Amino acid sequence: MAKRKNPDQAPAGPTVEVAAGSGVCFGVQRALRLAEEALAHRQAVWCLGPLIHNPQEMERLEANGFRVIESLQEAEGGGVLLIRSHGLGPDVVEEARRRGMRIVDATCPLVRRVQTLAVELAREGYQVVVAGEAAHPEVRAILGHSPTAKVVGDAEELRALDLAGRVALVAQTTFSPERFREMAAAMVSRDLAEVRVIHTICAATVERQRAAALLAERVDVMFVVGGRNSANTNRLVELCRGRGVATHHVEHAGEVTAEHLRGHRRAGVAAGASTPQWIIEAICGRIKALQSGAD
Ligand code: F3S
Repeated sequence: MAKRKNPDQAPAGPTVEVAAGSGVCFGVQRALRLAEEALAHRQAVWCLGPLIHNPQEMERLEANGFRVIESLQEAEGGGVLLIRSHGLGPDVVEEARRRGMRIVDATCPLVRRVQTLAVELAREGYQVVVAGEAAHPEVRAILGHSPTAKVVGDAEELRALDLAGRVALVAQTTFSPERFREMAAAMVSRDLAEVRVIHTICAATVERQRAAALLAERVDVMFVVGGRNSANTNRLVELCRGRGVATHHVEHAGEVTAEHLRGHRRAGVAAGASTPQWIIEAICGRIKALQSGAD
């Protein structure tokens, strides 16, 4: 656990500070822009799973005709299949094409890079290992492209993995950098013919996590904003709690209560990659109102 700063150094009045790099990353921004463009053509726009892990932003899109589905069978009458930033396996895309759907690909270029690496490394004879969460859609899509890849969540799982010969380690783009380093060290210490470690965690994720952790060290209470189903938001919550600060995971301003702020003068806000600016601003406004006793 990191050392907390001396509270005597704190400014007198209540404060609220937002961690640098909080909110929507360029990959999600691009996906939202492509969704808006597709909706502007007045065709049905279908998406397998939420486009972004933010219920409020999804409600806004759905009000404009965007439809989230669990399987392609639900997409009646064709239209557009929008591939979200997590990507999709090629078999699913092929199936959509067979059904006469037009594909709009919003796979984040950094996620695409992991997919391409997994395919190329497997082709070159490496056993590909993906550091990530097996159930996460990004990881499922990577496996769709490179079905022989194996997924592990931490160094312990990696040590237990049956590996031989040439092995390459890549990561889910939103994976924890610390955990990836531990896994890389565990991989290198194994008796393998060749090990390649390719750092594929996105810079926006690294920066967001670093800034949230630094902020958590100098405030009394943290609010981490983002969907409860968002892996990168949950990771921020874990990181802030790991700094020993009271941390609340909230999706919208209405969830911030006076109780959360009782006895805490310095509030910090960090937000996951899917959280729009307007939600961050609403949460800061709510904190300020509660701090001033106006709410
Ligand atoms: Fe892409 Fe990084 Fe965002 S991988 S979707 S820019 S969190």
